[in-house]
Amino acid sequence: MFRQLFRTKSLDAIMHEAENPAHQLKRALGSFDIIMLGIGAIIGSGIFATIGTAVAGDALRPGAGPAIVLSFGLTAVACAFCGLCYAEFASLVPIAGSAYTYSYATLGELVAWIIGWDLIIEYAVGNVAVAIAWAAYFHQLCEGIGWHIPAWLAVDYRSAAQAAEAALKSGGQVDASLLLPLEAWRAHPTVLGIPVIFNALAVGIVAVITWLLIIGVKESVRVNNAMVVVKLVILMFFIYAGAQFVRPEHWTPFMPNGFSGVWVGASLIFFAYIGFDAISTAAEECKHPERDLPIGIIGSLVICTVIYIAVALVLTGMVPWQHLGVADPLAAAFAYVHSDVSAGIVAVGAVVSMTAVLLVFQYGQPRIFFSMSRDGLLPAYFSRVHPKYKTPHITTFWTGVAVAAVSAVANINEIVELTNIGTLFAFVLVCAGVIVLRVKEPDRKRAFRTPLVPLVPILGIASCIYLMMGLPAITWIRFGAWLAAGLVVYALFGWRKSRLSGPAT
Ligand code: ALA
Repeated sequence: MFRQLFRTKSLDAIMHEAENPAHQLKRALGSFDIIMLGIGAIIGSGIFATIGTAVAGDALRPGAGPAIVLSFGLTAVACAFCGLCYAEFASLVPIAGSAYTYSYATLGELVAWIIGWDLIIEYAVGNVAVAIAWAAYFHQLCEGIGWHIPAWLAVDYRSAAQAAEAALKSGGQVDASLLLPLEAWRAHPTVLGIPVIFNALAVGIVAVITWLLIIGVKESVRVNNAMVVVKLVILMFFIYAGAQFVRPEHWTPFMPNGFSGVWVGASLIFFAYIGFDAISTAAEECKHPERDLPIGIIGSLVICTVIYIAVALVLTGMVPWQHLGVADPLAAAFAYVHSDVSAGIVAVGAVVSMTAVLLVFQYGQPRIFFSMSRDGLLPAYFSRVHPKYKTPHITTFWTGVAVAAVSAVANINEIVELTNIGTLFAFVLVCAGVIVLRVKEPDRKRAFRTPLVPLVPILGIASCIYLMMGLPAITWIRFGAWLAAGLVVYALFGWRKSRLSGPAT
């Protein structure tokens, strides 16, 4: 039994199964599409929303202040180590499924299952956070142009209740970031005594994205490419226009909360980097995966890091860091210097950017489920391909339903922290996988080789664990509970139904 838990699937078997036409995806993507897919996944609510909490902190933990620049640097280095490992795996196992598939080939079925289950946190739970941030910016944009959407259709129940309580306690001193939930709490209707507050805007955007993905990957990628161009232009605009308002005295003290603030900031702002690994889920739809994937992963990581550091410098130079703890810090920075038109332009950019992130993650998650189903760890129903559109429509649909349902009621800060811990854990396993596979199959052809193995993977593992330790205890507990639930599902279904259990393998 012990041996079964650690049974691996040979790389040749993985490649062979993927060649079965009934389960095959269309190879339509080139290297340009892949870099665009990467930037589409990376730049989103992290730089437009989470940066605010990472700089200013929250009621419980100190933020990084202007030293957020160091947090970005720290996180980028961690991601670079992991990105180099991802690139080797992705070029070696050019199959949909991301870290799940790679670990099936190296670390065994149990670990693969744990990673697949864990990746739900990165993709689906992460997208819940992005959908909520999207709804907040979109709501403010609508207000800006005079369309009033009731707040109780744009925030979640718990944050509304908490905001109302906090405002009452503070005796009228309501923080700007609490205004919207407070309004929702005050104005919501009740049905049969139950308060009606849910995030209809988040549900709406997830529904549209899901539909787009079901009707075909190429169409969706075209939409993504257009949105990536818009988001790059908007961030350039922020850097250029914001630079005129920078006052260097805002950068001192540079590290107001010492290194612990930088650490907390890094563990939060990691969210802004999540996504470079999502590129690997498109491996099966790439024309030249061995070349396009490493270029896409490393290229998009470098481009985004340069942009993030420039944005962070300008942002903390424009506004005293304590004022940035709001839901829309980049737009708020322009409002602070009374440049309302620029604030509006940035808000539009934020909405577009987050739409692109939603698209890539809603694209990635169904493909992981698809691979797990193809391996027999989930029911076969989930590996059906649409006869006309050639997309994994069943998993795409159900992912959409789940993300929409949770984003209707979830709290964004808790979701961001959970996403970060889950993703960092997956990265740890991927780095470990590179070392294991180098030992087990040293001669296998690798189109891209991670440099300095085992040093780089070990540094990747250490830096991820360091960032995980910057997250609060409650996040660790939630993560543990999630993994435990995953083991129960595996014991009840995947264990018996796995393709590797059959006599043929
Ligand atoms: N990196 C993605 C974002 O910031 C998840 O929205």
